[in-house]
Amino acid sequence: MKRIPEPELMDDPEQARAYALADFSEPHQAFIDHFARCFPRHRPRRVLDLGCGPADVTIRFARAYPDCEITGVDGAEAMLAFAREAVAATGVAGRVRLCHAYLPATLTGVETVDTVISNSLLHHLVDPAVLWQTLTQLSAARTAVFVMDLMRPPSEQTARELVQQYSGKEPEILRRDFYHSLCAAYRPDEIEAQLRATDLARRLQIEVVSDRHLIVWGELAC
Ligand SMILES: C[S@@+](CC[C@H](N)C(=O)[O-])C[C@H]1O[C@@H](n2cnc3c(N)ncnc32)[C@H](O)[C@@H]1O
Repeated sequence: MKRIPEPELMDDPEQARAYALADFSEPHQAFIDHFARCFPRHRPRRVLDLGCGPADVTIRFARAYPDCEITGVDGAEAMLAFAREAVAATGVAGRVRLCHAYLPATLTGVETVDTVISNSLLHHLVDPAVLWQTLTQLSAARTAVFVMDLMRPPSEQTARELVQQYSGKEPEILRRDFYHSLCAAYRPDEIEAQLRATDLARRLQIEVVSDRHLIVWGELAC
């Protein structure tokens, strides 16, 4: 099926609320578990989370790696409001910084990151090169990169079935968003082409990890 883009920023307060209150424990814990599997020896210290949204992944990552400090970046103030609340309610507030920035942007204070993570940002981007160029700009010796996203299914019918299977009991606004996100997601072959257009193809690998998710991961060089 042809890709149907969706709006980049999740700046609508109702949409942000529905997303922030949803239970993403299964895919978000899978994000942490896949990271640990891909980087068994890496000890994250300074981490950047691109498109952090309400910071559920950010907080899980901070808990999983107690020695790290994380900067979460998002362009939607509505999402960051929920992120601030969530971070304040946890024991990781001293290690998590939230930053309002619309990518592509010059990010300050993240020059020495050793880890870049991103969950479900790529499919929002009108120009996916924005993510890959941001990574290239941040590239330092042995920066661990871990991106997870949805994968576009072969047909709208399959997208509807996935929505029913995984968010059948969620509010309508969330089911609608999930459907739109599946339709906007990139396929592995498209991501491969995106990486080939940069220097990253040699560094990052793509792996399908579920019926609706893929990961892109590897180490950047200088
Ligand atoms: C589906 S949410 C994912 C949030 C979070 N990473 C998670 O897994 O729960 C995508 C987020 O990316 C943000 N976003 C989309 N395009 C962006 C851009 N160009 N710059 C910064 N943030 C962006 C949206 O505002 C939204 O909060």
